[in-house]
Amino acid sequence: MSAFKDNLLAGKVAFVAGGTSGINLGIARRYAELGAKVAVAGRNPQKAAAAAGSIGAGALGLSCDVRDYGAIRAALEQAAGTLGPLDIVISGAAGNFVAPAMGMSANGFRTVVDIDLNGTFNVFRASFDLLRRPGAALIAITAGQAINPAPLQAHVCAAKAGINQLIRVLAMEWGPSGVRVNGISPGPIAGTEGMARLTPTDEAAQALAGRIPLRRYGEIAEVAESAVFLVSESARYVTGAILDCDGGSQLGDASERRGVGLM
Ligand code: NAP
Ligand code: COA
Repeated sequence: MSAFKDNLLAGKVAFVAGGTSGINLGIARRYAELGAKVAVAGRNPQKAAAAAGSIGAGALGLSCDVRDYGAIRAALEQAAGTLGPLDIVISGAAGNFVAPAMGMSANGFRTVVDIDLNGTFNVFRASFDLLRRPGAALIAITAGQAINPAPLQAHVCAAKAGINQLIRVLAMEWGPSGVRVNGISPGPIAGTEGMARLTPTDEAAQALAGRIPLRRYGEIAEVAESAVFLVSESARYVTGAILDCDGGSQLGDASERRGVGLM
């Protein structure tokens, strides 16, 4: 179910970095459904082609690594050259694995910071002169680890916290050019690679769901609706914001057991 009208994004061009699977592909699909011309990018060329094929005729599937500034710049140029000036850019590429700091090499830590944080800088920095200005809307996909420290997630907590501040700084610097920069912080989303890594068993998933205020995992389509709002005219005075689409997860452990523990 959606509150948004058909063809809301007709005439818009969207580039979704990390849009070849999961949540970001769901966002790209929804944008295309609402009439936008869409390009998705990831490292694996076959996966990118399949993702574009699943979005529909005219969608572009591009291969690049967001850690490589020249490569992401070339992908953005190809998208803008083929589809037109970019109205929407999503930075959603990310990496995660579960490991304690002492089980993580310097390269392991750097790899996640490089994909998530440096990658977001690269995607946004490289897109600026290809944006339709004024009017463009950028979204970085962050996570609850940006705010809530979590064991086994040193790399992701550091990277996503950096993304939150980057969103705010770019919103300040690029607001005068008519470019809005916002974030979405999804909670645990069902059927995603991210949650397969964080809660690999049904038991772990159910335990986590029991701590979420809305008592369930979210759906990819629900994050996509937030991503439509933030790029729509309805959000034209919203910049530097991070929208939690997380069933209240950010509020903390909402299990009754925790309530009793606090009394
Ligand atoms: P996913 O399916 O693994 O998607 C990751 C995407 O990024 C893929 O398209 C992947 O394609 C691409 N990618 C990874 N490394 C890349 C690189 N170095 N350069 C370019 N592309 C790269 O992940 P997901 O679980 O849906 O998560 C999507 C986003 O939501 C992430 O930012 C994640 O942190 C955030 N998030 C997820 C959840 C959740 O419940 N899953 C919760 C909170 C936040 P290739 O592998 O082909 O490169
Ligand atoms: N525990 C500890 N260290 C790990 C690890 C784990 N489970 N997985 C990878 N690493 C380390 C590697 O050992 C390596 O360090 P080293 O060179 O000191 O040995 C470093 O991380 C980089 O690994 P590599 O496999 O070369 O990186 P990559 O660039 O090919 O892949 C990852 C990046 C590791 C993040 C990979 O999991 C990935 O591509 N993820 C994308 C999908 C994803 O994570 N989706 C969820 C998004 S929330």
